[in-house]
Amino acid sequence: MSQTGNKSRTKVVVTRKLPDIIETRMAELFNVTLNLADKPLSRGELKAAVAKANVLVPTVTDTIDADVISAAGKQLTLIANFGAGVDHIDVAAAQEKGITVTNTPGVLTEDTADLTMALLLSVPRRLFEGEKILRAGDWSGWTPTFLMGHRIQGKRLGIIGMGRIGRAVARRAKAFNMAVHYHNRSRLPEQVEGDLEATYWEDLDQMLARMDFVSINCPLTDETKHLLNRERLTKMRPHAVIINTARGGIVDEEALADLIEVGRIAGAGLDVFEEEPSINPKLLDLENVVLLPHMGSATIEGRVGMGEKVLINIRTFMDNHRPPDRVLPF
Ligand code: 8YV
Repeated sequence: MSQTGNKSRTKVVVTRKLPDIIETRMAELFNVTLNLADKPLSRGELKAAVAKANVLVPTVTDTIDADVISAAGKQLTLIANFGAGVDHIDVAAAQEKGITVTNTPGVLTEDTADLTMALLLSVPRRLFEGEKILRAGDWSGWTPTFLMGHRIQGKRLGIIGMGRIGRAVARRAKAFNMAVHYHNRSRLPEQVEGDLEATYWEDLDQMLARMDFVSINCPLTDETKHLLNRERLTKMRPHAVIINTARGGIVDEEALADLIEVGRIAGAGLDVFEEEPSINPKLLDLENVVLLPHMGSATIEGRVGMGEKVLINIRTFMDNHRPPDRVLPF
């Protein structure tokens, strides 16, 4: 960790390497400790950070649980998360201690929806299988039946979680002539539902049993942990494909791998996993899954946008205003 910046100002600890332009601005504005080596902080280092900083800027790779929060000194008043999902932070414990939590919604919506579509096309069109064959030098030329997949046009897509990202996926799916269905805690306003031509399912099980594709776009909370458990997954149609760009913990990964292996589910496109960065070895052995290393928001524009949101949240909070992206416990 390297300390830099204006010594007279707010002490900010950033846990991972951020885009240069964001780090430079952080150093101009705050007394910032950066992590230029980008080595994840140990639990002990996180505790030491919250004991001295006014603001902690963590990412999805840091577990900020009640134990870490209990190590925070009175000077820690803000956890300005670099990322939209806050399942790695015990927001209730922070609130109890008078610590505000903010996140970075909105700026990664379109990128995450794009990656969802990329997976939604990659799995049924067998893109990565094709690429692998070609690179291995095993392609002997075009044939009428080589690597046939399935089209997505005219198929039913069930979106679980119709927040910003779910709706951005729905817009794209509609442009690809898919029939959009969704399950959400609450039904969308009539106008929004109408614009997306989306069909609402209050009962998730009923929706799952009818879809060709399912895209997970809800946050991970106590209620959504293993929302797609073994029993639910068995309700899916055998030709159905699951796409997950939200959080690994929403799906019982072991059950998913088992069901794909025996042909009860056709395949999956996964950008997120239950125990990142470890991947369930059963998934690695399957042909009809595409596995990506949590890249949903990995565009330069998206990551700079996230950094800018962090800066705005810290500045407004330190100026004694309500930060724009305050997160409250679920
Ligand atoms: C981020 C994400 O890369 O914002 C989120 O919730 O899942 C990712 O797009 C990551 O969380 C950064 O902390």
